[in-house]
Amino acid sequence: MTVLTARHLSKTFKTPTLVTVLKDISLDIKQGQTVAITGKSGEGKTTLLHILGTLELPTAGTLEISGIPAVPSSWSLLRNQKIGFVFQTYNLLEDYTVLDNILMPAKIAGQDTRPGSLAHTQALKMLSEVGLSHRAEFQAKFLSGGEKQRAAIARAFQNNPDLILADEPSGNLDHTHSTLIYKLLLSAAKDHGKALIVVTHDPELASLCEQHYTLMDGELSCVY
Ligand SMILES: Nc1ncnc2c1ncn2[C@@H]1O[C@H](COP(=O)(O)OP(=O)(O)OP(=O)(O)O)[C@@H](O)[C@H]1O
Ligand SMILES: [Mg+2]
Repeated sequence: MTVLTARHLSKTFKTPTLVTVLKDISLDIKQGQTVAITGKSGEGKTTLLHILGTLELPTAGTLEISGIPAVPSSWSLLRNQKIGFVFQTYNLLEDYTVLDNILMPAKIAGQDTRPGSLAHTQALKMLSEVGLSHRAEFQAKFLSGGEKQRAAIARAFQNNPDLILADEPSGNLDHTHSTLIYKLLLSAAKDHGKALIVVTHDPELASLCEQHYTLMDGELSCVY
């Protein structure tokens, strides 16, 4: 099954000056496929990931996720149920507990999240998978950087999305912890059969994905 189909995506920022960041990018990602994107700072990796996640509009081109065209009327469904995001800066709700953070996508989707519910059971399972069961009732602000990112990974999987998008998920951590986070994300994607697109600066980590693309001068090229 094809999870993501992007056709002729381009992006030009008009302010403060005209900058064309992405040029005519087409991409197909299948279920369970793992894809790394590398590129120098400022080449447009975050912009591309945001566009693929419907968080930003392309200047031209089309996008389909899980067979659903990414048009304004489908954005909230796609973001909440088809795509899981892992950001470099975690984006957790700091005053909420780890468990509540992980349950947030389910709450937004209007699911029952009480103890014993399907969503609650799923959240506890993901918490255990990322090794955070002992931190379930901690407020997010009391977690270390690596723990926050593990919580964010659990949250990304909560609503069983088809596609996980991760923007330098380990960029703020030291080498040992960044490798651990990266491997955790990859194995979770594999175990759950999710398509994964991950942006990284580290070619060594990129090599752990089945496919590797680089972004340069607005063009996306396949390394392998
Ligand atoms: N809202 C915006 N308005 C104007 N220019 C922007 C905007 N957002 C990003 N840009 C420009 O687009 C280019 C690509 O930015 P982007 O954040 O996608 O790069 P990146 O590859 O993710 O870099 P990094 O590795 O440093 O995170 C940059 O030159 C940036 O200045
Ligand atoms: Mg970036």
